[in-house]
Amino acid sequence: MSEARGAEMRTIPSEAQIHALVHGFYDKVRSDAELGPIFNAVISDWDPHLEKMCAFWSSVMRMSGRYHGNPMAAHLRLKTAQPAHFDRWLGLFSATARELFTTDLADAFVGRAENIARSLQLGMFWSGAGRSARAEDPA
Ligand code: HEM
Repeated sequence: MSEARGAEMRTIPSEAQIHALVHGFYDKVRSDAELGPIFNAVISDWDPHLEKMCAFWSSVMRMSGRYHGNPMAAHLRLKTAQPAHFDRWLGLFSATARELFTTDLADAFVGRAENIARSLQLGMFWSGAGRSARAEDPA
């Protein structure tokens, strides 16, 4: 196997690895004093959410096209999420990835999560669109 192909394989997870990360991470999230209540307020049945998150990470990391959704719209609906929650989210995500994977693979997941978190926060907290979407939706 070429060196380049070997490096690529170290950073493309299997579906089983994605499943382990998603389930391990949301176990931590659900019992977290700050993040748990935000999720538990909107998610009553966790199985479909976990299934959706496996599809999301499969699309991100394996380019499988399994996820069809709109993460920005889902997060714009959250009333109580604040920028500090993203640091906590990323801390738990990174801890889970590092418990499960080699440094290369954990870094690959965390790098993607950081980029997506940055773009979600731009939409949620820093753009006029985010503010007006929240103001127009009193639910
Ligand atoms: C403060 C940090 C975050 C909080 C509190 C949060 C919370 C949530 C909640 C409550 C939902 C369910 C929404 C619903 O069913 O209506 C959700 C969905 C989702 N989240 Fe997050 N999230 C955070 C950060 C992130 C990050 C950093 C990513 C990506 C790396 C992400 C990816 C997703 C995706 C893909 C969905 C599914 C959207 C859909 O329904 O298609 N979230 N999040």
